[in-house]
Amino acid sequence: SKKLTIGMFGFGVVGQGLYDIIKTKNLNLEIKKFVIKNADKKRTLPAELFTTDPNAILDDPEINTVVELIDDAEAAFEITKRALTSGKNVVSANKKMIATHLEELINIQNQHGTSLLYEGAVCGSIPIIRNLEEYYDNELLHSVSGIFNGSSNYILSKIFNENQNYDVALKKAQDLGFAETDPTLDVGGFDPKFKLAIVASHAYGIYINPDEILNLGIDKLGNADIRYAREKNFKIKLIPLAKEIENHRVVLYVLPKFIGKDHILANVENEYNGVLVKAAFADEQFFLGKGAGGHPTGSAVLSDITALRYDYKYEYKKHLESQQVTYSTDYTFKV
Ligand code: HSE
Repeated sequence: SKKLTIGMFGFGVVGQGLYDIIKTKNLNLEIKKFVIKNADKKRTLPAELFTTDPNAILDDPEINTVVELIDDAEAAFEITKRALTSGKNVVSANKKMIATHLEELINIQNQHGTSLLYEGAVCGSIPIIRNLEEYYDNELLHSVSGIFNGSSNYILSKIFNENQNYDVALKKAQDLGFAETDPTLDVGGFDPKFKLAIVASHAYGIYINPDEILNLGIDKLGNADIRYAREKNFKIKLIPLAKEIENHRVVLYVLPKFIGKDHILANVENEYNGVLVKAAFADEQFFLGKGAGGHPTGSAVLSDITALRYDYKYEYKKHLESQQVTYSTDYTFKV
């Protein structure tokens, strides 16, 4: 297998998680440079590994693999475009960048014979992209739903199981490294919406502008909602859904929902995520795993890095070329 020489953008929760995993293993790879935003921050690694100059990675012909783990989706997009254009493969965990620019990124990757992988961008440790790519290729899926945001789920678990207050639980989710730098992305349902758009691209072969997907987050829940759920013996979970509503039309949304306690998603707690896939012949499958945190997400990023050794590439084999499926922005809800 080919030797990977890596340039890494960002050294936050996921970057450090990834680094911890890499250093415990004897992998045929080297991280040559880290590009970071803040040069003054104290680092646990030798200072000469760090720079603030993106060209130190992007112009280095020895670096064949870029690992992009920064926050800013537009800056990440510029980095990813340049890297793919100059023949470097990219692994990213930036769900906003991917959801927003997927079509252009696929075109660039195809034009330049490079590969962009992002298993770590969706549901942390759960290998859902790889499964949608490789396993569910023989039928149109009925639906993909679940719990895609670890922070919101952590907060809801603390409220429902431990009677904790929303603000205290949010602060803990931030301290544990689950939340985004701007936690509105989590509790407002934006982060799971980006993940849903990506999942739907692999499930149905459609490009979806995430701005067109309805999202309501747990920040809109009131005490009355929580009280009602408790009275009725329900839980509340933040549920993204992509569902085929009629022939080749898919409806998508992210909403908090009341869920019966015996439902499989009711038992996904804390920072865990769950993905529930329904298909005509395969029936139902359920994936459970940690959806946030440095090590679980870092391990998904590492699985992409390893896959690049064998020139793995997403093929979007569902219908991206034929575009047989359309998506709907009219929402009809069962009440
Ligand atoms: N902020 C995200 C979450 C991190 O809470 O799920 C993982 O993408």
